[in-house]
Amino acid sequence: MCGIIGYVGAQQASPILLNGLSKLEYRGYDSAGIAVYDGQALNVKKAKGRLKNLIDITKNGSEPTGTIGIGHTRWSTHGRPSDINSHPQTSGTGNVAVVHNGIIENYMELKEFLISTGVKFISETDTEVVAHLFEYYYDGDLLSTMQKVMERVDGSYALGILCKYHPDTIIAVRKESPLIIGLGNGENFIASDVAGILNYTRDIYYIDDKEIAIVKSGSVEIFDMYSRKIEKEIFHVDWDIEAAEKGGYEHFMFKEIMEQPKAVLNAISPRIKDGRISLDISLSPDELRGFDKLYIVGCGSAYHVGMVAKYIYEDMLRIPTVVQLASEFRYSNPIIDKRTLVIVISQSGETADSLAALREAKRLGATIVSIVNVVGSSIAKESDHVLYTWAGPEIAVATTKAYSTQLACIYMFALFMADSLGKISEEEYIAFIHALLKLPEDLKTVLELKEVTQKLASYYFNAKHIFFIGRNIDYAISLEGSLKLKEISYTASEAYAAGELKHGTISLIEEGSPVVALMTTEKLFDKMLSNIKEVKARGASVIAVTLDNARDISDEVDHVIKIPYIHPMMEASLAIVPLQFFSYYVASMRGCDIDKPRNLAKSVTVE
Ligand code: F6R
Repeated sequence: MCGIIGYVGAQQASPILLNGLSKLEYRGYDSAGIAVYDGQALNVKKAKGRLKNLIDITKNGSEPTGTIGIGHTRWSTHGRPSDINSHPQTSGTGNVAVVHNGIIENYMELKEFLISTGVKFISETDTEVVAHLFEYYYDGDLLSTMQKVMERVDGSYALGILCKYHPDTIIAVRKESPLIIGLGNGENFIASDVAGILNYTRDIYYIDDKEIAIVKSGSVEIFDMYSRKIEKEIFHVDWDIEAAEKGGYEHFMFKEIMEQPKAVLNAISPRIKDGRISLDISLSPDELRGFDKLYIVGCGSAYHVGMVAKYIYEDMLRIPTVVQLASEFRYSNPIIDKRTLVIVISQSGETADSLAALREAKRLGATIVSIVNVVGSSIAKESDHVLYTWAGPEIAVATTKAYSTQLACIYMFALFMADSLGKISEEEYIAFIHALLKLPEDLKTVLELKEVTQKLASYYFNAKHIFFIGRNIDYAISLEGSLKLKEISYTASEAYAAGELKHGTISLIEEGSPVVALMTTEKLFDKMLSNIKEVKARGASVIAVTLDNARDISDEVDHVIKIPYIHPMMEASLAIVPLQFFSYYVASMRGCDIDKPRNLAKSVTVE
């Protein structure tokens, strides 16, 4: 979603802002802009479309000149993408400029109020009210003005504000939307995401909800709503910029698919000590025995990881496990109390719906374990226990390595619980550990399927509609395979529990319909074969994904993709890889913008 950057120091601000915005492009956006104080006025440049348009109108960052500025990439919520609706938004006098991530929920009411005072609005955005309110409440002091504005606005926000009356200061504030301060030498930065400032500094402050940062070239002061000064610890970012660069690959998505063996190794190896799972989670066997229900929440692919987890946890732990979309959870009046363990899964740790679900579950008394990639993110901070996925930065909008490391964490947590609760025999435990240790190597093996899947993509990239079917964990994989395909290649696709086909969907199958059939759940192999026969009888072309030790079915289907046998509960990790490649190649053959699919954002920080 939207990205924020800000700079104050001795260097020209515009090139630094543009560079920062280029590092935030991956989040998804439809317009971009900057405001720089040039010694006399706040000079605003903004343009609809790709960052390239802004680079052109700023003559490659050579104007506006000035050493303090803010910048933004916008992903439209209120008001269509346009030059005028782009940020920064300014007050009527042009003396206040604002960049904003999030949604001001009561903006209509504030707009009416401001109009009644004579203010004229020029954009359709919710953000413009903040610029006018700031000007309206301005009392000569940035901190108290900001506090007055915050008392009036409801919703979520990360804001960067420049005010002409204080030309050496950026004001930064957040509520339910991420914001960090980058600390330099004689210069400082604000950003919505570490990637935006990593070219300049690795030392950062995380800003918490309703904290206000007064950022100058030589100082950063942080206050709460009552003007009390807050001391922050400096957090040193240890991943480097190369991790957020393409490293010779054409797309981040491809690079991230290829990184999966290493990412999964990073997630697993520090957590297996002397053949036992050792998690950085302080839940005792007694505490674990106190839970009579598991709830798993997430959005999109994270939810699909939850679907895999449900099959594993109910089978292994015999504890009822509900998996729910975070956006549904928060309004569903869930049956949760202190005997419920809620697992929140999120790559970014900032997804608004997942964060809201976490808060609701906490309010109802549940214990929260989160599985998160971004260190220090809101979900990580607000959980009782965190399992970091340690996948490194994921830049492509479509998740791949984060999905795989989330699965790895799900397996390890299952084993940790099963062992603590005495629900697994020593033999089964050892077999599971063995499979976990083998997983990174097996992932390397499935990466070799890229040529095969590229060929398959060349047969089917023009298909209007592609189906995915499976049962049990294979159904969960089907959902993820189908989502990958539709989000990056814009191919209509549906995933069905194979046994459900004949209850309606099979009417969509016609001559030549491509059907990807997942068959990695050994006990359901024959059932799947029956479903394959049903679709074949109606003319479907079937691509089957089977285990390499499975019965040969090449006469019954059109193509077979074989993956190694690893463990009945862990096949999702291997089966998803050919589906990731397949989506990637279909999208590439269809000429799609693979890393930044239309209308999508990497981190969905609004509801
Ligand atoms: C799909 C994808 C999304 C995310 C979803 C949740 O490829 O990436 O479906 O999985 O938006 O995001 P996080 O994991 O950041 O909460």
